[in-house]
Amino acid sequence: MLKKSFPLSKVYSLLEPGPVVMVTTSRKGQPNIMTMSWHTMMDFEPPIIGCVISNGDYTFESLKKSKECVINIPTVELAKKVVGVGNTSGRSVEKFKKFDLTPVAASYVSAPLISECYANLECKVIDTRLVNQYNFFILEVIKAWISPAKKPQKTIHHLGKGAFMVAGRKIKLPSKMK
Ligand SMILES: Cc1cc2nc3c(=O)[nH]c(=O)nc-3n(C[C@H](O)[C@H](O)[C@H](O)COP(=O)(O)O)c2cc1C
Repeated sequence: MLKKSFPLSKVYSLLEPGPVVMVTTSRKGQPNIMTMSWHTMMDFEPPIIGCVISNGDYTFESLKKSKECVINIPTVELAKKVVGVGNTSGRSVEKFKKFDLTPVAASYVSAPLISECYANLECKVIDTRLVNQYNFFILEVIKAWISPAKKPQKTIHHLGKGAFMVAGRKIKLPSKMK
């Protein structure tokens, strides 16, 4: 799918509502995907994101070594694949193949973008001080991509135990937040 460049100053608006995302990494040229819901925005620009990636995940070692990943933001159409990706490990499963997702080369990192996701954030790990204690990686988004389709994006939000909320109505209020 054709993507256009997305301003780094607006990346926070993609993540603030806390959608479930898929993190891609690359290890010895082999791409992998994991599902992640424990993430948070930490700064506007450059966009800084903190996220918890368990040390039991294959992604943990890949991210620690490569210090690069892509955060891919899916919509509800991909929900079953998102859960499948989160229920399997790259140790034993080639997830791009198994879940019929399309890797696309990123501009600045070795990990691929997932074409089917409506937005993709190329990230570098900038701080690992909380990794040993909390599995908490701090990432800087260095390039962001978004699908030019204007329709509201129905992201999925994890409620635990297999339950998800699908984003719906958008409302406007006079908030002082950027
Ligand atoms: C909805 C959902 C949300 C998840 N969120 C996280 C998360 O925030 N952090 C984490 O470490 N694992 C999370 N997981 C679990 C990982 O996706 C799972 O352990 C996966 O198998 C790791 O893949 P890997 O071994 O290929 O890295 C989540 C799984 C699902 C289904």
